[in-house]
Amino acid sequence: MDQPHILVVYQSMDGHTERIAERIADELRTGGAEVTITRATAATAPVDVDVVVLGDSIHAGQHSAELTEYVERNLATLNALPTALFQVCLTSAGRGPQLAIKPRPCCVAGVAREVQLC
Ligand SMILES: Cc1cc2nc3c(=O)[nH]c(=O)nc-3n(C[C@H](O)[C@H](O)[C@H](O)COP(=O)(O)O)c2cc1C
Repeated sequence: MDQPHILVVYQSMDGHTERIAERIADELRTGGAEVTITRATAATAPVDVDVVVLGDSIHAGQHSAELTEYVERNLATLNALPTALFQVCLTSAGRGPQLAIKPRPCCVAGVAREVQLC
């Protein structure tokens, strides 16, 4: 079987999501995939890729405008591909009852219908 081509598109304000995206890309390469990693602001449409991984952080309860715009611009293509989303935020780092927040549809609802909204 051919090596899968995985596109990792992320947005990061202070570098945390970027580091996690780079680690994910490294792990995927170790697993045998060809990986392209890029910031949402520089990302082109997901053409000739088998899987897309999206990463974003949360600020003031919101995903970034940059990642959201990338998703909206490419929604039809993303919905036709296996697509994963990871999000980085302080609430996710906690161990308390805040993790019991009920998942709600988020701004990238077309890709991941329900995620934890911090
Ligand atoms: C101004 C500001 C607002 C934030 N708002 C939230 C928030 O609403 N919910 C949350 O869980 N974390 C919040 N955080 C924490 C960030 O999501 C967290 O620091 C994350 O690691 C940032 O990732 P990044 O450096 O890739 O942007 C906020 C951080 C900052 C600096």
